[in-house]
Amino acid sequence: MQKILTADRSETYLNEEVGECYHSLKGAAEEATQKYVIPCKIKELAKTGKIRILDVCFGLGYNSAMAISIALEENHQCEIEVIGLEYDPEIINKIQEVSPPITFFSHYKKLTPTNLEFQHGKVKVKVLLGDANETAKQLTENHFDAIFFDPFSPKTAPEMWQVHLFQEMWRVMKSTGILATYSCARMARDNMAAAGLMYDDGPIWGRRGPGTIATKWTSIF
Ligand SMILES: C[S@@+](CC[C@H](N)C(=O)[O-])C[C@H]1O[C@@H](n2cnc3c(N)ncnc32)[C@H](O)[C@@H]1O
Repeated sequence: MQKILTADRSETYLNEEVGECYHSLKGAAEEATQKYVIPCKIKELAKTGKIRILDVCFGLGYNSAMAISIALEENHQCEIEVIGLEYDPEIINKIQEVSPPITFFSHYKKLTPTNLEFQHGKVKVKVLLGDANETAKQLTENHFDAIFFDPFSPKTAPEMWQVHLFQEMWRVMKSTGILATYSCARMARDNMAAAGLMYDDGPIWGRRGPGTIATKWTSIF
């Protein structure tokens, strides 16, 4: 895997097999804030004193590490649980080789393929290693305030954007939960809707189109 410096000086990797980078070249750390932390209202959630985040396709963990940093800045007493879903031990290993401008990231260096969880104060982080389509089934229902949904693109990884995985996301989200993703692909949005998620445009940042944010339908029955 080739290391690449993005425009905000945070590092990413090019996955040659997939033909895609792990982050936006406009700025990997900034992408975490713009595409995930802001749309999922992490700052606002921090004020409640407790946040549960599901980081789907954890990779180097930038998205959740940024969320923790911003939440603790807002409320240093905040209790935070992060569950990451990732299937590639090689990218977990690469956490040792990057130093993004994300305050909490130094703690993520405790994660290795053989040590997939740690606790620091009131922050707990755990990565479930395996295919997210399977590991998602182990998650508790009605549990997460925020889901960061960050697979490779629908074109190269269609298996990550199918109805059954969005149904799992629906199951594990709280009724007030928010799912955010960088993609606005038609297929992704149709499959979200088929799983009972209501979607809207997310922020436009680093790409021509907007991202997508999704919440649970509120039943009128
Ligand atoms: C776009 S990158 C995510 C970048 C990551 N969020 C970060 O901050 O570094 C996509 C990630 O999905 C992972 N992935 C691909 N297929 C997967 C699967 N079936 N289950 C779990 N993770 C998968 C890849 O290994 C890769 O780390």
